[in-house]
Amino acid sequence: MNCDVKTVIAPVNIAVIKYWGKRDEELILPLNDSVSATLDTSVMCAKTSVCANPHFAEDEIWLNGKKESFSNQRLQNCLKEIKQRAYNEKSIDDIFLTWKVHICSENNFPTAAGLASSAAGYACLVTALAKLYKVKSDISSIARLGSGSACRSVYGGFVRWHAGVNPDGSDSIATQIADSSHWPQMRALILVVGDTKKKISSTIGMKRSADTSELLKYRVQYCVPKRTDDISKAIKEKNFGKFAEITMKDSNQFHAVCMDSYPPYVYLTNISHTIIDLVHKYNEISGETRIAYTFDAGPNACLYLLENEVPKVMSLIQHIFPSSSDKFVTGLNFKEEGLNEEFLKILSIPIQAKDSIKYVIYTKVGDGPTEIKDGSHLLNKDGTPVKSVLI
Ligand code: DP6
Repeated sequence: MNCDVKTVIAPVNIAVIKYWGKRDEELILPLNDSVSATLDTSVMCAKTSVCANPHFAEDEIWLNGKKESFSNQRLQNCLKEIKQRAYNEKSIDDIFLTWKVHICSENNFPTAAGLASSAAGYACLVTALAKLYKVKSDISSIARLGSGSACRSVYGGFVRWHAGVNPDGSDSIATQIADSSHWPQMRALILVVGDTKKKISSTIGMKRSADTSELLKYRVQYCVPKRTDDISKAIKEKNFGKFAEITMKDSNQFHAVCMDSYPPYVYLTNISHTIIDLVHKYNEISGETRIAYTFDAGPNACLYLLENEVPKVMSLIQHIFPSSSDKFVTGLNFKEEGLNEEFLKILSIPIQAKDSIKYVIYTKVGDGPTEIKDGSHLLNKDGTPVKSVLI
């Protein structure tokens, strides 16, 4: 048996205007538009190999080294929809669509820790399947069926997911605001505070908020439409101060919505709040907004900042959050910068307990999913996972 294996890597994205709340649970249609930056796959990515063969007895999937059940409804919806698209586009022979598929996928970062792993994973899966079935049209609406935020990982740079109004979700798609080369100085620091699985998943949390939070209704109607337009403009004009202010306000409002839900739930920890304090004080002392924070459904912070600010901020983080690890910072290279005593005094943030921040990932804005053509597949030609991916 010799099948044609397609392999794709896909990026994580971190929202600056948050998606929180669905108007349709099945089709994963959001209550509001959202905006994100796609992060460089050279630092964080999902990798997926797919193949189809008439001799496969059933659809099979291996995730992060383990065989998983294929019964997951979202997974099945993605596969069904991509086959439907291939059929409509007449992109391949119909017989090919009856063959079973094998899928093998892995992330190079912790899953389900609020690190957007499902976004990268589903964007990767759907792009790999689109390559296999030669689907040419926009696939963000198919990635959306796997996980809402995944539709934004289908494009690089800065991306907007349009909530859309059609009941069938046909206009709930992602589009690019600007590509990855547009704002080359933009950087992201992911401060990993906890890398264990979150207590309340995004899916459950946002359902509770959509059912019970008055603040969410207000946010959707009055805040998000203006913020989305304003931040798109700030991105186009490379206005960091405006970009950062909107990003922080939107993150804060999202976490306020979690508290406004009934029963309330929280993702932020004391360390998350110390990071928030640190950023506001840093900006105040600097006399302008130079760092933005944003938090997803977990305690980890994503700081957006410009490249020239990185050495100072990195030194500061290492000073305030001492670590016992010799691999505290991973990702892109940077220069260390000595800290000014006077600056630390005015900042007056106490040094935190060792390992309060587990590690830092330093990355930048990057491109969308890419097909890997160097032969480093996760599936062998016979459709079995390559040995090194199995645990
Ligand atoms: C806080 O896309 O994980 O990261 O659609 O139910 O799979 P489902 O939710 P998911 O939610 C992401 C929520 C968020 C905000 C964002 O990425 O916009």
